[in-house]
Amino acid sequence: MKLVDSVLLSLFFTFLSVPPPLRLSAAIPPDSPIYDYDFEVPPPSPSPPPAASPNTTLEYMDLTLPPLLPTQSPKCSVHVLQRDFAHTVGSPPVTSGYIPPPECPAPWSRVVLELAGAASDVQKDRIAAVWLAGVEVLRTSTPFSMSPGVFWYVRKDVTRYTALLRHAAAFSMMLENSNATFPGVFSVNVSLHFYRGAVSFSSSPVSDSAAATGGLTAHPIIRGFYREPADLIIPISRPTAAAAGGGHWFRVTNETDRSSRTVLIPNNTYRAVLEVYASHHSDDEYWYANPLRSSGATLASDCLESKKPNGAFRQVVATLDGRYVGSAIPFPVITPGSVNPFFWAPVAAIGAYDHPSYDFDLTPFVGKLIDGGPHEFGLTVKECQPFWLVGGNLHLWLDAWSDAVEGGLIRYKVPPLRLGRQADWKNTEGKSEMEGQVIIRFSGWVSSSAGNVTTSVRHKLKFKSHVEVEEKGEMKTVEMEMKARTNLRIERDHAVVGRVVVETESPLNLVVESSNGGGGTRIRKTKLFHEMMEARSSAEGKGGEWFSTITDRQEAEGSVLVGEDGEVVWGSGETKSTYKYRDDKKCYLRTVNMVGGKVKEDEESSSCVAAAADF
Ligand SMILES: *[C@@H]1O[C@H](CO)[C@@H](O)[C@H](O)[C@H]1NC(C)=O
Ligand SMILES: *[C@@H]1O[C@H](CO)[C@@H](O)[C@H](O)[C@H]1NC(C)=O
Ligand SMILES: *[C@@H]1O[C@H](CO)[C@@H](O)[C@H](O)[C@H]1NC(C)=O
Ligand SMILES: *[C@@H]1O[C@H](CO)[C@@H](O)[C@H](O)[C@H]1NC(C)=O
Ligand SMILES: *[C@@H]1O[C@H](CO)[C@@H](O)[C@H](O)[C@H]1NC(C)=O
Ligand SMILES: *[C@@H]1O[C@H](CO)[C@@H](O)[C@H](O)[C@H]1NC(C)=O
Repeated sequence: MKLVDSVLLSLFFTFLSVPPPLRLSAAIPPDSPIYDYDFEVPPPSPSPPPAASPNTTLEYMDLTLPPLLPTQSPKCSVHVLQRDFAHTVGSPPVTSGYIPPPECPAPWSRVVLELAGAASDVQKDRIAAVWLAGVEVLRTSTPFSMSPGVFWYVRKDVTRYTALLRHAAAFSMMLENSNATFPGVFSVNVSLHFYRGAVSFSSSPVSDSAAATGGLTAHPIIRGFYREPADLIIPISRPTAAAAGGGHWFRVTNETDRSSRTVLIPNNTYRAVLEVYASHHSDDEYWYANPLRSSGATLASDCLESKKPNGAFRQVVATLDGRYVGSAIPFPVITPGSVNPFFWAPVAAIGAYDHPSYDFDLTPFVGKLIDGGPHEFGLTVKECQPFWLVGGNLHLWLDAWSDAVEGGLIRYKVPPLRLGRQADWKNTEGKSEMEGQVIIRFSGWVSSSAGNVTTSVRHKLKFKSHVEVEEKGEMKTVEMEMKARTNLRIERDHAVVGRVVVETESPLNLVVESSNGGGGTRIRKTKLFHEMMEARSSAEGKGGEWFSTITDRQEAEGSVLVGEDGEVVWGSGETKSTYKYRDDKKCYLRTVNMVGGKVKEDEESSSCVAAAADF
């Protein structure tokens, strides 16, 4: 990858130009012993020292598509949940009742969930999720708020969950916060906005077909599988009673720890998609930077890694009655307190406020699912360390016009993903590499009132990770590349009637240089390049062709001082974020440059020339 190499190279060369620091003053009282140490970072520069309390931006944000045309107002909005999360560790999810809005009944052309959050004071980032009737509709992280008054919004297109929104149900939210160490309390409002008619984010007139195909979305990862919202969604998560002790998500601590739920599927199902959420925590917070070393050995540095050096490969796997039906290499979401919290204030890392979910089309297995018996859906994470939070939603499309749907599996070719593993270490220096790829194919037919339709899925995964440690463990370089491509072919009477192609690519490059900060502290300089690219295209019938591409990219650089307890006490960072969207009709480009906690540049454009240029 030429581009990646040159970025990495430039990372090395500009490593010395560390921007002025921003003090996390509110977190550390001025009389804290940390200020007694005479550490020297950044190197003295001609510029004056930074102000003690700079004018930082208080609105934290995540670059995504503006979900809808700002001038278009929703037909109606419903405020579903309001809560302050102060000390909620070990508490059950908070719940509130949802009632569909009587003033604007279904159907809706678009439904947008809005989470408005505010942090009363300094607080660490926390993982959170919102469920409706036990079905996860949002996985999110809170900001790592560095000053009182930080606020943020998450807006997510939740049209795909329409089936749940048609009925009264319980909304629940889990956000385990503790205000014992840091005083911050997170206050959250969750609202739903219901739209009717054509929706668009651009002011140019847009055809109805763009809205109908879901060509626009507020989410950076959305597959082309949700042309129409499903009729029924069954949670593959912990049932309500069990969820009281820790949420609806499954906590996965090792790869043999398969979490599952047994469900009954209506016998008139003709399509099925399993959507999976997965986030990595604790020992696996830095799985993507984890070296591969012989068992037992760990590197004696603070270089971002898991507890056990089992390499930088994880795979989220879904099974049906014990058999593989789909997998994804998870996109490593860098949560706001990770790597360098000063990179993510105020612009969040890719996907941090709206974690990606992964969709597996299970239509070829419908014949098996509708046999009237119970079926067990399992979720696990290969090679994982404690712990991952995973959960699934089974989207089902039902044939209202027949009660005699039939189906059968035609082909099932699931070779194992063979990983190449190489490691070469001498004490604390060396490198390791893991790489692998696999092509999975299955197809099946479903005969319903729509005819006898055969769905074929071809899924290709490609993965490569390289971790290198130099300078007696003080310098670490991480390169990761993953590519996935799903081809969906739909045939009726031996003629192809539809195709969907979804391609994702997510390169990550990270360089971490550690040094002694004195008094047991460490100074960590970091350079990061991270990108998520997703291209979707679809062809269905006459004139039903469309494509869209999203490229979400971040480049960040800065340093932090890590205290003896491993907590970040001081630091600086600058981040350049670029979010680019293109489809067959429209373009959108937004660039935000953030330096030392302030937004220096924020530009938006709908020019396709700008969006087409490689940045
Ligand atoms: C923040 O900016 C405003 C307007 O530019 C200025 O009046 C104020 O003094 C600044 N505050 C600090 C703490 O720098
Ligand atoms: C939540 O809504 C209430 C009532 O409208 C409002 O007073 C409060 O400021 C909101 N909180 C946030 C974090 O937006
Ligand atoms: C945590 O927040 C709650 C609610 O604001 C407050 O009553 C409590 O005193 C706080 N606890 C600490 C340790 O600050
Ligand atoms: C995997 O996790 C399960 C559940 O926490 C536990 O019972 C089991 O002992 C673990 N297996 C290994 C090999 O650690
Ligand atoms: C499907 O289920 C319905 C309702 O339980 C039943 O009436 C119908 O006979 C079933 N159809 C088949 C093909 O099993
Ligand atoms: C549907 O098509 C498949 C594949 O062509 C075939 O094997 C199956 O028997 C057909 N089913 C019905 C009910 O016609």
